[in-house]
Amino acid sequence: MRLVVTGASGGIGAALVRIAKSRGDFTVGISRRPSEADVHRNCDVLDLHCLRKAAAEVGRVDGLALLHGHGDPGLWVKPISELDGDDFLDVFRVDMVGSFNVVKAFLPALSRDASVVLVSSTPGLVGDSYGIPYAAAKGALAALARSLAKALAPVRVNAVAFGPIATRWTTWISEEGLEGFRGRTLLKRLGSPEEAAEAVYWLLSPASSYVTGHVLIVDGGESL
Ligand SMILES: NC(=O)c1ccc[n+]([C@@H]2O[C@H](COP(=O)([O-])OP(=O)(O)OC[C@H]3O[C@@H](n4cnc5c(N)ncnc54)[C@H](OP(=O)(O)O)[C@@H]3O)[C@@H](O)[C@H]2O)c1
Repeated sequence: MRLVVTGASGGIGAALVRIAKSRGDFTVGISRRPSEADVHRNCDVLDLHCLRKAAAEVGRVDGLALLHGHGDPGLWVKPISELDGDDFLDVFRVDMVGSFNVVKAFLPALSRDASVVLVSSTPGLVGDSYGIPYAAAKGALAALARSLAKALAPVRVNAVAFGPIATRWTTWISEEGLEGFRGRTLLKRLGSPEEAAEAVYWLLSPASSYVTGHVLIVDGGESL
């Protein structure tokens, strides 16, 4: 497969690039920092010109994995009394508008049976009392995936809702906080970036050829 991976410099994106390359796929990484992808383009997902240029250079695309995400952990510790509209706009801009930009830019390059995977999260499906802008944006991404599935068929569009995955995101959480995250899952542990990336890979691959408009929960049972 010829795969484009946004967030390729991040924890889950980098794991997906490693997995895909090990299986003989050709990977194109998109992020502001470099990645290990076969070809990398330093694009901000808000820079449609950069994304369109990358799409024109890359040629046919069989799979598009949108694994970028707003990266400010400070939003998680802000109580609702301190949140304001800009906090929502910041996250929605990167997660939602950024995802839409990438789909729009790569649309002409997608093969007829291509697969697009967006990233949601369990707080986006079941809510959370902290990180509310993040949860709202991730919920909206699940809705975006369903709408794009209808609009772009026969191109398949799905989302993966991750629970706690051990990436950069979990390095700033205290041991006590991590224990809480582990305890909320049925499997009593965090997921690895590779476990998260495998689910994305399955949705990108022909193995999931009759799956579209679906939100696949990969959370160790956290949301049950
Ligand atoms: N880890 C978890 O527990 C978890 C749980 C649920 C959902 N998720 C979601 O899964 C996705 C991947 O998570 P992760 O843990 O791998 O996160 P991560 O390590 O923080 O990676 C985030 C990626 O997003 C990219 N990015 C951020 N802003 C960007 C922008 N404006 N333009 C282009 N790229 C941008 C970053 O690249 P540059 O900084 O190089 O641009 C980085 O590659 C995110 O959407 C995250 O919200 C993660």
